[in-house]
Order: sequence, then C-alpha cells, then structure tokens
Amino acid sequence: MPIAIIGAGGQLGRELAAGTDPHDTLCLAHRNIEISDPASIAAALDGKGVHTVINAAAYNFVDRAEDEPDAAWVVNARGPRLLAQWCAANAATCVHISTDHVFGLDGSRSIPFRETDAPGPVSAYGISKLAGEHFVRSTAPRHFVLRTCGLYGHPPAGGKGNFVETMLRLGKGKGEVKVVNDQYCTPTSAADLAEMILALIRTNAFGLYHATSSGATTWHEFAQEIFRQSGTDARVIPISTQEFGAKARRPAYSVLDCSKLAAAAGISIRDWRESLAGYLS
Ligand SMILES: NC(=O)c1ccc[n+]([C@@H]2O[C@H](COP(=O)([O-])OP(=O)(O)OC[C@H]3O[C@@H](n4cnc5c(N)ncnc54)[C@H](OP(=O)(O)O)[C@@H]3O)[C@@H](O)[C@H]2O)c1
Repeated sequence: MPIAIIGAGGQLGRELAAGTDPHDTLCLAHRNIEISDPASIAAALDGKGVHTVINAAAYNFVDRAEDEPDAAWVVNARGPRLLAQWCAANAATCVHISTDHVFGLDGSRSIPFRETDAPGPVSAYGISKLAGEHFVRSTAPRHFVLRTCGLYGHPPAGGKGNFVETMLRLGKGKGEVKVVNDQYCTPTSAADLAEMILALIRTNAFGLYHATSSGATTWHEFAQEIFRQSGTDARVIPISTQEFGAKARRPAYSVLDCSKLAAAAGISIRDWRESLAGYLS
C-alpha cells in the first residue's frame, strides 16, 4: 500500500522521496501527473493501492502570481481540491503543504502565529494557497495540512534554486548583496520538513499544523549566516521591503508557532541555524 509523493521533482518532493522506502512509494513528478486535471490524477493514482497522498506540488512564483492569479489558483487551489476529492473517494489520507504567506494582513503582529489565528493573505499567491488549504480541510476527512516557510532544499539541475543558493551565487560573484531586513520569518530546510511530515503521518492526529525550523530571523540575518557558515567573503547590505520593491506584498512578520506539531509527532524541532549547517554540509 504505497505513499504517493506528488511534486517529486521539487525541493521538498525530493527530500520526501529520500526519506521513504522506494518499494512502497510512488514518486510522481510533473511529467507523471497534472494535479489540475482529474483524468491525469486518476491515471496516476487509481488501482495502485495508494493510502496516503502527499502533495508537494505548487505554483511558487510569488511575484509572477500578481500578473497571473488564475495560473496560481489552478495549481494551488483547484489541484489540491481535486487531490482531496480523490483521497475522500478512496479513503486515503491527504497531506498538503501550505505557506506562511496565508498571513500578512495583521501588520502589527510580533508573536508567532498559532494554527487557531485567523489567516489574512496579502498576495495572489497567498490567497491561492489559503484556498487550497480550505479545499483540503473541507473535502478529505483524513488530512494533514502543514504550513511552512522559506523552504530550501537541494534544487534540481535547471530548477529555480532557492534563497541559500542565490545568496551563495551572488556573494561569490559580486562580493556584496542587498537583502531585506524588515521581514521576520523562519527559513526551513526541506530535509527537516520532510522528516516532520513523515513523523506526523505515522499518527492519526489529522488537522492543520505549522511546520518550520525553530527560531526567527530576517532575510538579511539569514544571508549573513549563510556567508558566515560557508566561509563566503561577502557583505550583506540591509535594505527595506520598500527599497527592494518586489511586485507582491509579503508578510512583515510570519513566524509560526510549531508546538502543536512537535507534540503530535513527538519530535523536537531544530533551530534554523543548525538546519542551515546541515544543508551546507
Ligand atoms: N519554496 C518556498 O520557499 C516555500 C515556502 C513556503 C511554502 N512552500 C510550499 O512548500 C511546498 C513545496 O515547495 P517546493 O519549494 O518544494 O516547491 P518546488 O521546488 O517549486 O516544487 C514544486 C513541484 O511541483 C511541480 N508542479 C508544479 N505544478 C504542477 C502541477 N500542476 N501538477 C503537478 N506538478 C506540478 C513542479 O514541477 P515543474 O517545475 O516541472 O513545473 C515542481 O517539481 C509547496 O506547497 C509550496 O507552496 C514553499
């Protein structure tokens, strides 16, 4: 009775695949399944005895989504809805990954968000991901929805990379980078998140969870730590969100309280600096 990993070619999907028994895992990359198409879902999953579907596929282009919100919606809302429908019809568990970008509307926030706090996205990407959460939670009785943040995992060749790889490339090339220092969050290693997911799904504690590394930082401090740990001789110049001028709004504070997950899965969660060291090594 296998686990199906959807988005198996992405950062998280690759780590999930590495953490599961290959004989009991169906790894589905984008070429194997289109999650916005029910016929493609049926062709990939029907008749294979799948008991757990982990959806690590997503439309992750936060800025581009402002210009093409429908494209984000199709993958981040319609896709999870169809997967949740498949799970409900097949008595399977639906595991879905969401984001800290479901928050942001509360601009005065300064303490970690719990699962019981009201979401309030401020971007087309955040809205599409929140809709995906709602569809899964209201459709698949056996569900785990996990919100994570600032994910970095070993990117596929030719993929879009991640913040750590971008900093290393820019730092080595230019010797200095300008990085936003007024957004507070918790970068999370995809390997750690995969471990959290695989521990949680061994339980029957279905529901909504926050799942990041522990601690909090800014992108500026994260970049400094990447250079310090990697021995890269580069300067990090702090700039404001306004100076950076990204197309999409981002939460000024989106630190997530992960104590519910730690208790349910019986795990301790590593500090973001320790997780970074694991990734860089
Ligand atoms: N990256 C972050 O910083 C971050 C932060 C918070 C939450 N998250 C969430 O964490 C999860 C994993 O993110 P990630 O960084 O591992 O993503 P990723 O590296 O971008 O991987 C996503 C994968 O999904 C595939 N995919 C895209 N559209 C698809 C579709 N319509 N049908 C089937 N497959 C499709 C992509 O294939 P192609 O590339 O071939 O299209 C890609 O391999 C996502 O739910 C994401 O929203 C990520």
